[in-house]
Amino acid sequence: MNMKNDFQEVLLNREDLKEIVRRIGRDIKERYCGKEITLVVPLTGAMVFAADLMRELYPVCDVRLICMQISSYGENACSSGEIKVLLDAPIEKVAGKKIIIVEDIVDTGATLNWLVNHLLEKGAEEVETCVLVDKAAARKIPVVLDYVGRQIPNEFVVGYGLDYAGKYRHVPKIAILKKEVYEK
Ligand code: PRP
Repeated sequence: MNMKNDFQEVLLNREDLKEIVRRIGRDIKERYCGKEITLVVPLTGAMVFAADLMRELYPVCDVRLICMQISSYGENACSSGEIKVLLDAPIEKVAGKKIIIVEDIVDTGATLNWLVNHLLEKGAEEVETCVLVDKAAARKIPVVLDYVGRQIPNEFVVGYGLDYAGKYRHVPKIAILKKEVYEK
């Protein structure tokens, strides 16, 4: 088995990903130099990007981390649009805080839109959004993106945290999955 055969095209290789993390890190450091910032990371996919990004902010920012677990996709390649909260953010870590939601992908926008409102309802002082890849053509709910890694086409992508049915999260690049892999 060679997993590479499942990919139609590589959109972002290791170097591209490093460059994006560096650039977004620089933008966040400029804005939050010497300040406390709380990163909210929706598990599971965003953990890979968030792990790299948070270390990029050292030693300039005082970074706090909250992991949440929400789910919108299930086992399908298409978003169900349904949000399930499996692990919520503790209110004392959110209220009065400046927050950046760190996401791997924005697709329909349903997850990010829900998350921004949820954190504001819990009393966050400010909520910014940071996404590695933006699939703008798939948007159904408009969301403001403050930090964006790269625009990508409306294709099913995996790698660097992004999965198909739990697979490919460890791939160190982002690639379009061949249709025959998920249309079996
Ligand atoms: C992915 C991704 C976003 C969401 C984006 O998560 O991490 O949270 O889908 O899609 P949307 O813009 O259509 O809402 P997923 O639900 O697949 O969970 P995972 O990170 O555990 O794979």
